[in-house]
Amino acid sequence: MTQRGQFITFEGTEGVGKSTQIAQAEAVLREQGIAVEVTREPGGTPMAELIRELLLAPREESVHETTELLLMFAARAQHLHNRILPALADGRWVLCDRFTDATFAYQGGGRGVSSDRIAMLETLVQGEVRPDHVIVLDAPVETGMARAAKRGQLDRFEQEEVAFFERIRQCYLDRVRDNPGRYHVVDASSPLEAVSEQVRALLMRLIQS
Ligand code: TMP
Repeated sequence: MTQRGQFITFEGTEGVGKSTQIAQAEAVLREQGIAVEVTREPGGTPMAELIRELLLAPREESVHETTELLLMFAARAQHLHNRILPALADGRWVLCDRFTDATFAYQGGGRGVSSDRIAMLETLVQGEVRPDHVIVLDAPVETGMARAAKRGQLDRFEQEEVAFFERIRQCYLDRVRDNPGRYHVVDASSPLEAVSEQVRALLMRLIQS
């Protein structure tokens, strides 16, 4: 019987270098002969990517927090059932750029939606499925925002103020503190090579465990 793959997510505030670290993590796993699927949220399937466009586009109409929350989970339902679960069942490791921790951090910490509401939708959409490991790349908010600003036009989230991202950062750190073992924080303010080394060492531990 095929052994189920590991489900690993990468989290953090804007501009902490998730894409670079995910590409590096993919290379580490492939070197070790592990089949990998790299994906992201919101998005990861054609339909979920359309929902992503709806969510990220700056718009004049204000977006109600419940609309935003439900769209995040609508995209997630599609992505989880059509892509993530089949890949895991097939033995591939899934590296996902954000997952439900981002909803607790952004919609919960950032927008102020209650954790109970988010947890209710988490159960509805995911049942018992949770990431096997969550890697939180942590850096001061201003460092990340400056990096994100250099990438060009800001999306609807990136246009938020510093305090919004401070709440998100704190929420991620609280989740790391409350879930030792499954959550891992990496200091993303170190030089790139040092960050990559921390991620590599962590993955090697996970492969060997
Ligand atoms: P990205 O810029 O890392 O690709 O993520 C897209 C944006 O979506 C980012 O600003 C965080 C936000 N987001 C949420 O607000 N809630 C979520 O559940 C997810 C997955 C992302």
